[in-house]
Amino acid sequence: MRIMVTGGLGFIGSQMVRWILEQVPDVDILNVDALTYAGNPANVEEYAHDARYRWVQASIADRAQLEPWFADQAVDAVINFAAESHVDRSIQSGAPFVVTNVLGTQVLLELARQYHVPRFLHVSTDEVYGSLGPTGQFRETSPLEPNSPYAASKAAADMVVLAASRTYQQDVVITRCSNNYGPYQFPEKLIPLFVTNGLEGRPWPLYGDGRNVRDWLHVSDHVRAIWDVLTRGKSGQIYNIGGHTEKSNWEIAEDLRAILGLPASVVTMVSDRLGHDRRYAMDAQKITKELGWEPRIPWQQGIRDTVAWYQNHEDWWRPVKSGAYREYYRQQYGEGNPDSGVRNS
Ligand code: NAD
Ligand code: TYD
Repeated sequence: MRIMVTGGLGFIGSQMVRWILEQVPDVDILNVDALTYAGNPANVEEYAHDARYRWVQASIADRAQLEPWFADQAVDAVINFAAESHVDRSIQSGAPFVVTNVLGTQVLLELARQYHVPRFLHVSTDEVYGSLGPTGQFRETSPLEPNSPYAASKAAADMVVLAASRTYQQDVVITRCSNNYGPYQFPEKLIPLFVTNGLEGRPWPLYGDGRNVRDWLHVSDHVRAIWDVLTRGKSGQIYNIGGHTEKSNWEIAEDLRAILGLPASVVTMVSDRLGHDRRYAMDAQKITKELGWEPRIPWQQGIRDTVAWYQNHEDWWRPVKSGAYREYYRQQYGEGNPDSGVRNS
């Protein structure tokens, strides 16, 4: 079985690549990743020379670059992780999000259809549903009310994927997951930013009043859910994935402070993110009822293990934060365009 994973040099995609190669026999992986600022070959270093793994440096928005890979290789499934993924960056500049997240998804879908790929799994997010008040949860049937440019681009991609199912009966499935945490997460996101800043003696910028709530899930539980949906999910369906772990950003900071033994003064209240969604919470009953999936890693264990991972992997995150790793890979593989997700040629 040959699986095309896109965005497999990023945080969740690389976890998926490692998980599949560890868990699934008789599989090989074609990892299509443009190597933007968020992609890092070190995330799958242990498989770099494995015959079952191959990385292709290409943008999912570039049909000409991608088509030979569909034409030459019999691809049995596509798992589309590739995306511009950071809300704050989308507030600065939304166009790259539309290029990769919307156009890229459309291009991939068309190629998958043209080359008769039996299944296309699109990795989406809870952010497409917008923001909740103090109560309630998102269901798969909740309306899409995205607020940030990132969330809007992900919602548009979901529409494009569903349109392919309805128009052409293309076999697609969509997963919408809550916030992930774990090893190899790029240190622009809340948890790795705070942990690594803490280890560097730098402050923790907490946006607004710090009371925004997210539902956290360990990344290994997420990729297991994706595998369950890929292999057993019903065509044309959407599956919510959540961790039953709602926490305010303030609570996250408290938990991290306790683990790292840092004083309250490490937290610095800063001005709020524009249009900051107040609360996300997932109703993930459907995937549990239909596929038997449930989260396995409790927050207290997952967050301790995650902090320990960053403590033990300074060799991974220090070059990422300093930009040294980008310089190294730029020399190895050529200039990537950090803003468009598309490699300059
Ligand atoms: P990430 O930013 O860590 O990684 C994205 C990867 O995609 C990088 O390796 C990057 O090089 C690659 N990429 C970007 N543009 C590309 C392009 N045009 N062509 C090919 N590759 C490209 O992201 P992540 O946190 O691992 O998220 C992966 C997916 O999961 C995204 O689709 C995101 O929307 C979704 N998601 C993330 C979370 C979360 O908490 N991180 C939660 C739910 C859903
Ligand atoms: P983030 O990790 O960017 O994920 P998302 O916006 O996709 O949920 O942010 C998680 C929460 O943490 C969100 O409410 C914004 C907040 N946050 C901060 O308070 N400070 C920070 O420096 C960052 C990056 C995020």
